[in-house]
Amino acid sequence: MSEIKAAQKQKQVVIDEIKEKLSNAKSAIIIDYIGINVEEANELRAKLREEEVDYTVYKNTLTKRAIEGTEFENASLEDIVRKSEGGIYNNAGQVMNHNYYFLQLAPNKGGEPTGKIAEAINAKWGSFEAFKTELSQAAATLFGSGWAWLAADEAGNLCIEKEPNAGNPLRKGLKPILCVDVWEHAYYLSYQNRRPDHVGDLFKLINWDVIEERYTA
Ligand SMILES: [Fe+2]
Repeated sequence: MSEIKAAQKQKQVVIDEIKEKLSNAKSAIIIDYIGINVEEANELRAKLREEEVDYTVYKNTLTKRAIEGTEFENASLEDIVRKSEGGIYNNAGQVMNHNYYFLQLAPNKGGEPTGKIAEAINAKWGSFEAFKTELSQAAATLFGSGWAWLAADEAGNLCIEKEPNAGNPLRKGLKPILCVDVWEHAYYLSYQNRRPDHVGDLFKLINWDVIEERYTA
């Protein structure tokens, strides 16, 4: 993907657009971005029921309260995540992280990656299974609430980052590729304290086409 195309795609994930789609945000975003149909979006939504309420709270807080009248009012979400602090950063980070989270998922996906991302995973970990184990361990052992990320440096080398709270690898100059939400709201209703089971089931929903696109963008 060209730099311009990548920038255009990123620009789609901006506050104004999210504002317009708040009423039915998750399925609207998913349908628009990865081209799945309404039934598939609803199927995915049912699987992610715990996430619904919290995501809406983050978005509403960010758009209706946190950024109004600040230098970030018209900034892109990426810029807000890069530059803001405190409450604005926490809410913007959570909106961005959930965008990455939802957009990488689709029902009836999973399986193993192909293409450049598969090559990079094999170069780093030797096998997909070894990568999966390390990402799962990172997610399972992250203390408190946060996110386990697969990220890449400028040269395309992959790494796994454990980020507390609303953390996003963008803040470290890394490109976010794939994330696992390990806030309790992401799994507690279905899995109680069995965080590893949540991660294991999440792998069955990963859309590797989206991950490849992020990695090669
Ligand atoms: Fe979440």
